[in-house]
Formats: sequence, C-alpha cells, structure tokens
Amino acid sequence: MSLIPSIPENTPHILVFGMGGTIAGLAPNPEETPLQYQAGQVGVDALVSHIQSAIPGGIQLVSQQLANINSRNLLDADLTLLGQSVKEALVDDAVKGIVITHGTDTIEETGLFLQAICGKLAHTQAKRVILTGAMLPSNALGADGPSNLLDALRWASTSIENCPGGIYAVMDGRGCMAMDLAKRHATALNAPLQNSPSSSVGLINPSWLSGVKAVQHAWNEDLPIPQEGEWPWVEILTSHAGARPETVAQWLKSDVQGLVVAGSGQGGFHDAWAEPFKKAMAQGIALVRTTRTGAGTTLPNIPELDAPGCRASGVLSAPRARIALQLALNAAKQSNLAGKPLTWQDFFARIADLPEIR
Ligand code: SIN
Repeated sequence: MSLIPSIPENTPHILVFGMGGTIAGLAPNPEETPLQYQAGQVGVDALVSHIQSAIPGGIQLVSQQLANINSRNLLDADLTLLGQSVKEALVDDAVKGIVITHGTDTIEETGLFLQAICGKLAHTQAKRVILTGAMLPSNALGADGPSNLLDALRWASTSIENCPGGIYAVMDGRGCMAMDLAKRHATALNAPLQNSPSSSVGLINPSWLSGVKAVQHAWNEDLPIPQEGEWPWVEILTSHAGARPETVAQWLKSDVQGLVVAGSGQGGFHDAWAEPFKKAMAQGIALVRTTRTGAGTTLPNIPELDAPGCRASGVLSAPRARIALQLALNAAKQSNLAGKPLTWQDFFARIADLPEIR
C-alpha cells in the first residue's frame, strides 16, 4: 500500500484500489493511433498523483494496486481479492470512501459482483464505493481517465445530499448504481453506462435517487464471496440462427455447473437446444435464460414454459446473470453446509427480482 501523500495511521482517507484497464493504459504512438494501446501499464499511484493538485483540499488519499490487467482477462481470483479488500475497507473507520479504477470491458461483471457481496455493508456503513475507468489510454490527447477519477473521488468523499452509502459507478460526468453498468458501445466515452439509469454527477436526479433507495431497501443480505478455486463454473451460450444441438451437448460431458443462455428476442433459444437442455437440467446443471438483445426484461415462462431447473434472468444481462448464478450456486452450497438449505433459485431471485430503476 502506498500513501499519497504519506499520512499518519488512522487519518481519515479515501482508499483508491487499482485494477488496471484503459485508464491505466499507454499507447506507444498516442498522437497517431491512440486506440492502439496496452491496458494496465500505469500504477494507480501515478494515476492519483497526476490529479493530485485538482483534488479538493482536506481529502487524503491512499492507493493500493490489487491488479494491473486488461479487464477482459479478469479472473475469479481477482474478484475474490477485490471483494475481500472492499469489505475490509468498508469496516475500517479511517476509510471514508472507496474508489476503484477498472477496465471497462468487464466492469459490468464487477459492478454486479460488488453489489451482491457488499451492497448492504456499504449502505449500513454509509460509505460510497465508486467504480470508474476510461475509454482512452492515459497518454492520449483528451484522455478521459483523469476527469473520471476526479469525479469518482468527489462522489466518494463529499456529502452529496441524500445520496446514501452504496456501490456506484462514475463515467463521463454521470453516475449510476454499479449493478446497472452495461458496456454497449465499443468506443463512446460513456460506453459502460450509456444505456443505464443514471444521474449527472453534479446534480443528483431525484427520480434516479428514489430508484436507488428502492433497490437498497430491497437488498437485505449480502451474499458470501466464493474463495479462490471455489467459484462455480458457469458459461454463457448465445442462441443464433443455425444453432446445433452439439453446442450444448458437449457441455454435458464437462463439470460445468451452470449455463446462461443469451437467447434471441425475449430470451428464447433455438429448438435444437431443447433436448440437450433437458438433459443438462436432469444432470443438475442450472439454466438461466436472458436476452441477447442488450435491453429489456426476460420474464418467466415467456416465450416458452420454464422447466424447474430453468430461471428467467429478469433485467440481468448475460454477463451479470453469469456472476449472479455463480454467487447463487455458491450461496446455496454454503447454506446447505450450514444446515439451512436454500436453492440457487432462491438466491438468484434476490438479485434478479430487485426493483428496476427507470
Ligand atoms: C479493459 O477493460 O481493461 C480495457 C478496455 C477499457 O478499459 O476500456
């Protein structure tokens, strides 16, 4: 851990965790080809030092590098480490807020993960955890990382009127609940929250805020973090024209524990997959249906009836549904070991049935 500047122990501070991403990226030839770059090259200390002079007086910062990767390579173990680090920080009296610099490619997964494992804790501790990233590498002309980081630090540290403790994300001057992140554009500066319910970081939108409060009221209990090596194996399969039964059948020979179907339209899948899915469920493989369209809700029993081993994803996209299913399978296993058995569907429903912010 490094201190910027060095501060005595127990000094109130904002903790900045570095995970890598484009915000920490470097382009060899930034003027000619800024989008040809490597993510995860610059340390989080340097990112914070770079904006030090713009940080409002009185805010002390401490930074800690947890990973420095391109987030497309994010591992279960990285999430375990991040989750444990955030939970520890939330109960540390000296930490007043937490900012996480992260690659945007899989920030959607990390946002849902953090809400599910410590959304309640952040709320009860009245601390904000803010994910942020960038679409341009740190040495590109007009790099968006510094302003995103500054906004995130302000959001984490200032008393934004009535904005409760919780897990949020900030990009391009807007904030949203981290569980609503969804990168749906390859290059736009607001890609991760372009289609998400959000508010300007400067002026909190009251109707967005009342949606946040409804979600927080409904989120009653954080789920356990799977330990490294104990994450259930869950894959995403996209249904498409010309789908073949073999695509599903091959998973029946593996140790996969769950399949998320990114279905067409309202979450339907090709008829060729019906038989192998029946076999998968008979083998105890959990099945979640969602839509590949990128928006909208996947409802139970639409467009076909759901068998008992299958659940609709609600508003969860395929990447979010995958994390939710991993956490639900893990929580069901823990609850069985503790002698209070609940099913994966019970835990999955807690996430998938949260109120939707409009
Ligand atoms: C990454 O996700 O690490 C690279 C892309 C980005 O941060 O925008």
